[in-house]
Amino acid sequence: MSQRHMHLVAYLKTGPTAMHVGGWRHPEATLDDILHPSRYEHIARVLEAGCFDGCFFADLFGLYDIHGGSYDPYVRRGGQISYLDPTVVLPIMAMATRHLGLGATLSTSFHTPYHLARWLGSLDVLSGGRVAWNVVTSATDLEAQNAGMDALPPREERYDRADEVLEACFALWSSWDEDPFVLDKEAGVFADPSKVHYANYEGRWIKTRGPLSIPRSAQGRPVIMQAGSSDRGREFAARWAEVVFTIQRGREEMREFYDDLKARMDKVGRAPNECAVLPAISVVLGETESIARERADYLDSLIDPELVTASSSSSVGADLTKLKDGKSLAELQGNQGMKGTEQVLEQAMKAEGKSLAEAAANRHRRRELVGTPSMVADRMQELFEAGVCDGFVLAPTMFPGMFEQFCRGVVPELQRRGIFRTSYTGRTLRENLQS
Ligand SMILES: Cc1cc2nc3c(=O)[nH]c(=O)nc-3n(C[C@H](O)[C@H](O)[C@H](O)COP(=O)(O)O)c2cc1C
Repeated sequence: MSQRHMHLVAYLKTGPTAMHVGGWRHPEATLDDILHPSRYEHIARVLEAGCFDGCFFADLFGLYDIHGGSYDPYVRRGGQISYLDPTVVLPIMAMATRHLGLGATLSTSFHTPYHLARWLGSLDVLSGGRVAWNVVTSATDLEAQNAGMDALPPREERYDRADEVLEACFALWSSWDEDPFVLDKEAGVFADPSKVHYANYEGRWIKTRGPLSIPRSAQGRPVIMQAGSSDRGREFAARWAEVVFTIQRGREEMREFYDDLKARMDKVGRAPNECAVLPAISVVLGETESIARERADYLDSLIDPELVTASSSSSVGADLTKLKDGKSLAELQGNQGMKGTEQVLEQAMKAEGKSLAEAAANRHRRRELVGTPSMVADRMQELFEAGVCDGFVLAPTMFPGMFEQFCRGVVPELQRRGIFRTSYTGRTLRENLQS
């Protein structure tokens, strides 16, 4: 039986901040290229040289203004904002690479399946089968209002509708059989119509006729990624996801999530290796442990507490400044919020005896793996071989430096230990995820 290899996916954003809210203030962080193709070409080449499975852009269909009812903290303090639509950036990265997987976040709540299947299918064909779709149902009313709705529907309904959207997209991506093109100029035959089929999908919320005009990609259809942690979210992942991102406080929480998801997959007849579970981590590296710790302390000193609480408000879908008025979280949320973030806050409240407000204000404290490349590789190997994950999502502290240092220092360590690929063996993203 061949050595199990871990999978690595980079967490990206078309803005100054991905997860670490102070990283953009680091002297080495680049800012003047955020709106320029060179930023995305560069990071694509760095990640491919580091043999990453892929990258994905986290995205919001709007601009966060939940905390204090204002977007001021996000705009003023460099919060998580997508200054470019990632689906427009990914083709640039496809041109600059040959193997790197390319993930876009798109909501099932605001787009028709035909739009989704057409966008993702086209890029999947152009990139030679390297596209992934981070399926979200969206978690904020502000996005729903940008899409012309008054508020988000309840979570259960969002996921039930998402199931239909995926069924419809899969039907559309099956519109074309393999090798439909004849290209016989002599005979005047371009393609074989018998290899094209209607989707004729009709559900409770969704219907689409098809056929999709986009032929099959080298991997047949995009890889499905997902990051929902609620009970319904995990059920959705167990059915559809080939990659699941998660944020967990520690090893035991990772194990609980991992075992739960694999058990749900087993219930729907899917084998464990059909989905890679990747917890999110960041790293702070140094030539020695003390240098790394000093760097981590410096990075922490760049964190703006107001932005920490503001991003907690955004993730739980509630204006946490209103907690002091005695309102409960559920009252403030309505149908909003990411269960995953709530679970991490609850884990901190339980483990550290903190209040919700305190946990929310400290959500960004010390989530990084800090040390020399060998120490960081030790920790990643320990978690991987403990069977609590299939690899990791790497979220940058300062960009692009953290990725450059990781690919130069930690990747060779992981390769030397035989737990990470030394070259790409698959033609497509799905083949690389399966290897
Ligand atoms: C690592 C990670 C990344 C995520 N990225 C996004 C994102 O880019 N856009 C988004 O709308 N939701 C994102 N989410 C939220 C989930 O996709 C999901 O929609 C949300 O958690 C609501 O689902 P749940 O209540 O089932 O957890 C992310 C969650 C995690 C853990």
